[in-house]
Amino acid sequence: MVKVFWCVGMPRPDFMKFFSSRINYMYPSPIREMVAKIAYKSRIKPVISFAAGEPDPDVLPRDIYASMVSDIFVRENRIVNYSPAEGVLDLREAIAGFMKSHEYVDTSYERIIVTVGGSQALDIIARIMLEPGDVVVTENPSYVNTLLCWKHYGVRIVGVPMDDNGMITEKLEETLKKLREEGRLVKLIYSIPTGQNPSGITMSMDRRKHLLEIASKYDLIVVEDTAYNHLVYEEVDVKPLRALDKEDRIIYVGSFSKVLGTGLRIGWLEASPEVIEKIRYSKQPMDMCAPVPCQYLVLEVLKRGLFDEIKAKAIKAYKEKRDLMMAALDKYLPQLKHTRPVAGMFILLWLPEELNAIEFADKLLEKYDVAVIPATPFYTNGSGKNVIRMNFSMAKPELIDDGVNRIAKLVKELVAPAVA
Ligand SMILES: Cc1ncc(COP(=O)(O)O)c(C=O)c1O
Repeated sequence: MVKVFWCVGMPRPDFMKFFSSRINYMYPSPIREMVAKIAYKSRIKPVISFAAGEPDPDVLPRDIYASMVSDIFVRENRIVNYSPAEGVLDLREAIAGFMKSHEYVDTSYERIIVTVGGSQALDIIARIMLEPGDVVVTENPSYVNTLLCWKHYGVRIVGVPMDDNGMITEKLEETLKKLREEGRLVKLIYSIPTGQNPSGITMSMDRRKHLLEIASKYDLIVVEDTAYNHLVYEEVDVKPLRALDKEDRIIYVGSFSKVLGTGLRIGWLEASPEVIEKIRYSKQPMDMCAPVPCQYLVLEVLKRGLFDEIKAKAIKAYKEKRDLMMAALDKYLPQLKHTRPVAGMFILLWLPEELNAIEFADKLLEKYDVAVIPATPFYTNGSGKNVIRMNFSMAKPELIDDGVNRIAKLVKELVAPAVA
């Protein structure tokens, strides 16, 4: 029952009159909605969740963080004050070093702004670059929260299909040509080249190079989202777009969330000085700075050289879980197509065409206590109606086979009557 905070019978404001027109562009995130349903259901029964896109809290080194925290609080007297809006200077320098050692990118702290996760970085990019009616081109499907966030700014999102090698860049060029002929103003290409969310697909080097050639030919800015760049499970010959770019066309969005922990909320932006200047103006009044204790914690991890150790532990654990999930899919649902990610946290599964992913996910949770995310909202054009996203990083390894078996049971139940 909803608690009533006003006197019954007294006049109340009609809030609809006060909301801005931007609320017309605001939609709930399917991920958060599903997480809320899981939380509710878990109070009644244990749920096997393949829903969230997070690192496993039991893999994250909470003990190491705990041991460092008291030391940092004693040592850094500014830890409970604001940092500059751009972030703690030492952290910006450490991130510049990290980009050189881990991403083949030669940069300097002046080109870096520490943000509240990659999410804030993506929001700020929209604030400083996008107007209602502008077009952004992305992979189809793409990360739903970026799509939702950028839609707040009234932009039109146009998707380009992917295959096992990432965005099909020939189609990207066709799309850009067509949009130009229609007189549309395309500003950005948004790409998650490694371990893409939701597909898990990693873009090949040839495609990366081609994407940059196209960006140059059509004079576009590329937003490279590198959230999963450090969760790579096989030897793959890829470099970030930013490392291949010779024209300073990339706005690089980084995040420590997926390796060090999503709750730390530390990400960053790396871009050319003109862009950084505007980002600084936008960020200052927004939040003053990213959480300072977390900035110092991440700095300490980088300074002590712990990132690689933490990453290695995560890769070992998630690779095992990925293999278990793929083996279970091949065992119980061999007739269905799914992606085979070499990086990231997700597998996309195509259900039989007649099934609706949203209804399927609801039924799966209700009847079989398994949570997945319907991938439909990740598609830019209303397609993907029968596709679900499955996360393997959070699941308990001993429950993965059972969870996939339950998915297979529901598929059979829902499809069998039509076949009989
Ligand atoms: C592709 C992608 N980009 C950005 C983010 C944002 O992560 P954070 O704000 O925690 O850095 C996520 C989180 O799931 C993601 O999947």
